[in-house]
Amino acid sequence: MARIRIFETPAALAHVLAGHLARTLTVHPALVLGLATGRTPIPLYRELARLHAAGRADFSRATTFNLDEFLGVGAQDPRSYRAFMQKHLFGHINLAPRRIHFLNGAVHAGREVQRECDRYERAIERAGGIDVQILGLGMNGHIGFNEPARALVARTHSVRLKPATRRANAPLFGNRVGAVPREALSMGMATILHAKRIVLLATGSTKARCVERMLAGPVSPRLPASFLQLHRHVEIWLDRAAAARLGGP
Ligand code: F6R
Repeated sequence: MARIRIFETPAALAHVLAGHLARTLTVHPALVLGLATGRTPIPLYRELARLHAAGRADFSRATTFNLDEFLGVGAQDPRSYRAFMQKHLFGHINLAPRRIHFLNGAVHAGREVQRECDRYERAIERAGGIDVQILGLGMNGHIGFNEPARALVARTHSVRLKPATRRANAPLFGNRVGAVPREALSMGMATILHAKRIVLLATGSTKARCVERMLAGPVSPRLPASFLQLHRHVEIWLDRAAAARLGGP
């Protein structure tokens, strides 16, 4: 059963979760964190940076793995997810650069893509697996870039992005949907579900319907996030707006 936590605002959620992660880092300094990009975790990253500046969050022994990256977009490209993470988190904390792991979007089609995906899986394994995986929730139910489909892919792979996902990412590409890559690299469903603990964040009313289906609907590849129902240690952190369709207090 997923543990559900509901906060009045995204800021309150971010505040509590950042404090919690900072305390976890104190107990387990070599924590392996899985990270997401997108709008939802930005307040969390801001809080983590603030705690670090206040001497209350030490990342010096931590390791990170991000979920996904656009294909054809190199790490140095300001539109990459790697650049997003630098701007919102990595540039403000004391993570050792060699322990920041990212899928390389600059690989070319075919075998090179497969090699890159295999390399990432091996790196996660070598790090001892992901201890805490932070996830956002796509409006169509995707997690990472595991888009709704007839069947899902278990391991890190290249994926064709849905039009809705490209639209959601247009702000990174000067608001030009046509400039958003059609493909991306993403951890697979099994990669995500192998994390020891999963913390999914969803905020805002646009996520409410999806949150309801994720928790109460059937486990279906048509809504990849519904597979989280199968995980033993999953927490769903919501603001009131995203929790609006759940009923209860
Ligand atoms: C990005 C990722 C995506 C986002 C999702 C929600 O690394 O993994 O699954 O978490 O698209 O995005 P936002 O937070 O912008 O609504």
